[in-house]
Amino acid sequence: MISRSYLSELFSLDGRVAVVTGGSSGIGRAIAGALAGAGASVVIVARKESELAATVDELAADGCRAAWVSADLGSRDGVRAAAEQAAEVFGEPDILVNSAGINLRPPMGELGEEVWDATMAVNLEAPYLLGQRFGPGMAERGFGRIIHVTSQQAHRAFVQSGAYGVSKGALESLARSQAEAWSPHGVTCNTLVPGFVMTPLNERLSSDPEKVAALAARTMVGRNGLAEDFAGAAVFLAGRASSYVTGQAIFVDGGLSVH
Ligand SMILES: NC(=O)c1ccc[n+]([C@@H]2O[C@H](COP(=O)([O-])OP(=O)(O)OC[C@H]3O[C@@H](n4cnc5c(N)ncnc54)[C@H](OP(=O)(O)O)[C@@H]3O)[C@@H](O)[C@H]2O)c1
Repeated sequence: MISRSYLSELFSLDGRVAVVTGGSSGIGRAIAGALAGAGASVVIVARKESELAATVDELAADGCRAAWVSADLGSRDGVRAAAEQAAEVFGEPDILVNSAGINLRPPMGELGEEVWDATMAVNLEAPYLLGQRFGPGMAERGFGRIIHVTSQQAHRAFVQSGAYGVSKGALESLARSQAEAWSPHGVTCNTLVPGFVMTPLNERLSSDPEKVAALAARTMVGRNGLAEDFAGAAVFLAGRASSYVTGQAIFVDGGLSVH
């Protein structure tokens, strides 16, 4: 018989500490809520204080333990400061989710160094630096979970992928390098791969009903993604249940990538 304690052993995050970048909006916000709902104490990191505070208020109203750190993950100093502040709140994290991302996609011929640098800094360097800061400690303690949020553009070009697609492809490679290094010590490192998700990130596309319908038709489920679709996969990857899953890219895309 499946008992509650069995499920809790597999999926509960009671006593765990999580840091979720980009936890104030879209996919990161839904993941932060899911991890907190499963029992983790969650620190969310992003720039805008009003959105951070609103998210934490919502989580606290639901009885969750949550806090926020405002930081710009677009600079190395910003990332370092964010990591130290985040670790001060509830202690060193057991779970790191890198969901903060930017999506600047000028035509390839017009892609300048500024866009390239900004994209790599937030989408790739911040996850790398946070991994370097928290991964070794997780390995020493014998448990850790690193979850990156990549994109279908890690696997194929799509609507001027440019630097964005490159950053996401590299992020999947980073997950494999981290998995190789730390999995023997109980730290799994995986990526969640969204298809097209209705969030503020892609306001331009998601405010065009024809494009939204065309993208939905390319999935198997018949609709575009919602931030909430990432909750279950994130709880799975953050808990004990996934201890033999590492170095993987898990598509949460309604079948878009295989249609
Ligand atoms: N939506 C999609 O269709 C889709 C598809 C594929 C992949 N993804 C990926 O999924 C992840 C989440 O995207 P989303 O759709 O949920 O986007 P979103 O709603 O725009 O959220 C992005 C989050 O990142 C934070 N952020 C951005 N730049 C930052 C910086 N310099 N420093 C600190 N925080 C920063 C934002 O907060 P502040 O602005 O306050 O800093 C916000 O919390 C991203 O990595 C994105 O590439 C999304």
